[in-house]
Amino acid sequence: MCGIVGILGGHEVAPILVEALKRLEYRGYDSAGIATVHDGVLERRRAVGKLVNLSDLLVHDPLQGKSGIGHTRWATHGAPSIDNAHPHRAGPVSVVHNGIIENFRELREELAAAGIQFVTETDTETVALLTQLYIEKGAQPVEAARKTLSRLDGAFALAFLFEGEEDLIVAARKGSPLAIGHGDGEMFVGSDAIALGPLTDRITYLEEGDSAVLTRTSLEIRNEAGEIANREMQTIRLDQTRVDKGGHKHFMAKEIAEQPTVIGEAIRHYLDNTGASVVLPDPGLDFTQIDRLTMVACGTAYYACFTAKYWFEQLAGIPVEVDVASEFRYREPPISKGTVALFVSQSGETADTLAALRYCEGKADKIVSVVNVPESSIARESDLVLPILAGTEIGVASTKAFTCQLTVLLMIALKAAAERGTMTAQEVADKLSALRMLPGVMNAALERESTLQAVSHNLSEARDILFLGRGVMYPLALEGALKLKEISYIHAEAYASGELKHGPIALVDEHVPVVVLAPRDSLFDKTISNMQEVMARNGKVLLITDAEGASQGGDGVWDTVVMPVVDPVLSPILYSIPAQLLAYHTAVAKGTDVDQPRNLAKSVTVE
Ligand code: M6R
Repeated sequence: MCGIVGILGGHEVAPILVEALKRLEYRGYDSAGIATVHDGVLERRRAVGKLVNLSDLLVHDPLQGKSGIGHTRWATHGAPSIDNAHPHRAGPVSVVHNGIIENFRELREELAAAGIQFVTETDTETVALLTQLYIEKGAQPVEAARKTLSRLDGAFALAFLFEGEEDLIVAARKGSPLAIGHGDGEMFVGSDAIALGPLTDRITYLEEGDSAVLTRTSLEIRNEAGEIANREMQTIRLDQTRVDKGGHKHFMAKEIAEQPTVIGEAIRHYLDNTGASVVLPDPGLDFTQIDRLTMVACGTAYYACFTAKYWFEQLAGIPVEVDVASEFRYREPPISKGTVALFVSQSGETADTLAALRYCEGKADKIVSVVNVPESSIARESDLVLPILAGTEIGVASTKAFTCQLTVLLMIALKAAAERGTMTAQEVADKLSALRMLPGVMNAALERESTLQAVSHNLSEARDILFLGRGVMYPLALEGALKLKEISYIHAEAYASGELKHGPIALVDEHVPVVVLAPRDSLFDKTISNMQEVMARNGKVLLITDAEGASQGGDGVWDTVVMPVVDPVLSPILYSIPAQLLAYHTAVAKGTDVDQPRNLAKSVTVE
């Protein structure tokens, strides 16, 4: 969602704040702003739209000062406008916020009753106004911020800057992540360590409910109860905070191309020395004691869970329930003994997934998370953390995180199958051997890019596109449709091939391309029959299959993409590549903003 940053520095801070915000822009890009204190005077600049508009503004209307806060916004309360852009200000206080203040209406009523006027539609303005009120009643800035924090419900990461205070930032976290960076005679705060990467590698993560008082030379952290809290300082690897496109036109293109490498790393991480079995980090899992797996996630991570359901059920004989977090948490499903709850999240900060995890605490036998950010809230609240090792993913459309999630989930399913005896050791070793070959096969799939680019050019003319898949390829059809709509803005839907004739086939005519994901596996003939039903109604079929599939099912199709042959269990991972490249090149052909598609943000830390 929004990105926040704060700096008590040794140099002019405006350009450094903008640079840090650039690294957070993946969290939101509806507006951006900064505030600084210079000679005791608090001032701010804000601009609607991307960060570049703020940079331009600062060229004409610069801000001086060595202390400041900044914000890049994904709008929740109030449209993207200058008034609604952060930092918000009330008298001597300026505030940046990521999250939602859930009781802002009550607070607004209280403030309005005290005769206070509002100039924005945001929830955040109440934070600034309340702090101002406490200062006017005689509180010092830190005390005023603390009193305000004690009044807030909801999810927030906040940073406060005060007029007349050039060596003070107050920061707080509840539900939204916040990292403190330690410099030499400087102190920083940011939504993540990536924002602070060029400034420091020494990071302290605030815990849930913590507040912090920063000066250039000191950091005091208090827990929710107001007691002094010692939080460990970590030295992070700077390569983990690198943010560049590596010569590609977009982050998404770079992240698609990186997949063979990062998947190879994930595979090596979970294989034992012999390469024939899977090792999980401590405390591990006893799969013989598991009666049921409940998997919960959002968006692409949910489709990874849905794919894994097929693997856990077919390979390991474990019944799996899969749900989107926003539904799961409010449905209040019963969780029986013997249930392991598994949460998948790239960011590890998705608000709904985190809330679903908290719902399962104390009910499920174990809470397991499959995350890309090991320091994230979801990881920290899990009994067992399984990192996917995809490296930083910046493109809003998730690509390499998805295939790394699939890879790790498949390896867990194979381990479960070995322990439960549903596969022999040799069968598991054979699958793992095929998996070790996967990075090479993925490289071969990436070589189909020019074909996919040409097809995408035609797809970009379409208004609606359908995706079909059967069995384990059905979740991938859903993921392919999600990827396409989120970056090309073309309406795309996915169906289980066999379900088409129960209604959706009414959508098919000569204007609707239908992408069929069908490797030559045990369900191929059935999928091809469904494809014929589409073609009989003039549907334009793009068949993505292997050479055998193309020769058996390719007659009369609009176009075919021929993929390398792979063990059927690995098809969803391999066929992610054409699904991603189709979405990418269709978006490029349409000229949309691939890395920062409209209305979206990378990390969804609000409900
Ligand atoms: O960080 P998470 O994996 O929890 O994020 C979940 C979804 O918000 C995310 O996968 C979203 O659907 C992506 N934009 C898809 O490309």
